[in-house]
Amino acid sequence: MTNDSHGFAASSLAKVLLCNRIDVDDLPEHPIRWSFDTSAIGTLGDSLSQWNIENLLHESPTSSIRYQRDERTHVERVPRDIARASYEAGLPVVIDRLPAFRPICESIARELDIDSRDVTCGIFASDKGATAPLHFDQAFSIAFQIIGRKKWLLRKNDVAESPLVGWALGDKVNDEHRIFSGNPFPTEMPDDCTTEIASPGDALLIPSGYWHATEALERSVSFNIHIALPIPADVYLSFMRRVLCQKRVWRQGMSRRRIEKNMERLASEFESEAGRAMRSVIVGNRGQRDGQTSNDPRSPYRINPAATISVDHAESGACTVHVPSIHGTRRVELDLDPSLINACRRLRNNANDAVSAEYLFHSIPTVSLEDIGHLLCILARAGFLHHVE
Ligand SMILES: [Fe+2]
Repeated sequence: MTNDSHGFAASSLAKVLLCNRIDVDDLPEHPIRWSFDTSAIGTLGDSLSQWNIENLLHESPTSSIRYQRDERTHVERVPRDIARASYEAGLPVVIDRLPAFRPICESIARELDIDSRDVTCGIFASDKGATAPLHFDQAFSIAFQIIGRKKWLLRKNDVAESPLVGWALGDKVNDEHRIFSGNPFPTEMPDDCTTEIASPGDALLIPSGYWHATEALERSVSFNIHIALPIPADVYLSFMRRVLCQKRVWRQGMSRRRIEKNMERLASEFESEAGRAMRSVIVGNRGQRDGQTSNDPRSPYRINPAATISVDHAESGACTVHVPSIHGTRRVELDLDPSLINACRRLRNNANDAVSAEYLFHSIPTVSLEDIGHLLCILARAGFLHHVE
């Protein structure tokens, strides 16, 4: 198969599997199930067609197993012989590093309009009777049953909603768990779990944090997708780290005692840095949102103080705008009419932070007022300017 046909196969597989059932920003609170065409899964690879454990293990030098020891769940990568022994001992084995998986994760990410780094997938192989203990995961997952029947025990999680990390019955509760749950975790399987039997062709979506336990009623193979979406706390913290670490005072090591001693000063500086940084991001967004709304040549725009514009090739009209965004600096490449380059330079060196098309037209009369108005709209959409109401 060529790379292109791999991509095509992965893209049609993603469509067949997901069946337009998921909006990641409006996920169900409870598991949902739907049917998919199992024949599509053959695109994962010809040699997997038998789906027996020998073939599956042959595909990848290592697999993952999940087991409990010392009151903690371990996920470990193991070579084929240990994976085989674990399979025979009743543990589900996860084949999760096949080259064919990357284009599938990318296609799934495209279908769901998310980042492909947030998607992982794997084949779960379980011998008859293999079980997974009651647990919840941070990611939400979809299990596509391919071979055999699997019993799922499911229950809403009342003790830990939107967890930061997973937990399994028998694990110790640690400091990370206490951040998102002050409630005691169960010590035994709740008796009010609901039961779902997944047969070949059944897809089952398990929301993040939902309790689940499984038992293979027959030799079972499923293809599972895990989606760990970024959480706002991490995105904003990573943004603030980038902002703060531009200043030496925030990246200079100091003792914990000194950090605590200077808490008042640092906290106050943190607050003003955060305020300034967030305002610049909001301005960039506002520019994008309102960029097309003004046709009035006197309509004022403000230059985003944290954005920059550079002229790459004056002759061709190539420019680049850099705008701070919560996910990092956003780079917007513009392909302008070369006659507008002088206006860009004027904007870059503008001493005031407010401009209008009329104002620029007076200083660059060689370009029409209409073209300058058009340029301001483009720069506003790029986040370099924002339209002032
Ligand atoms: Fe799970």
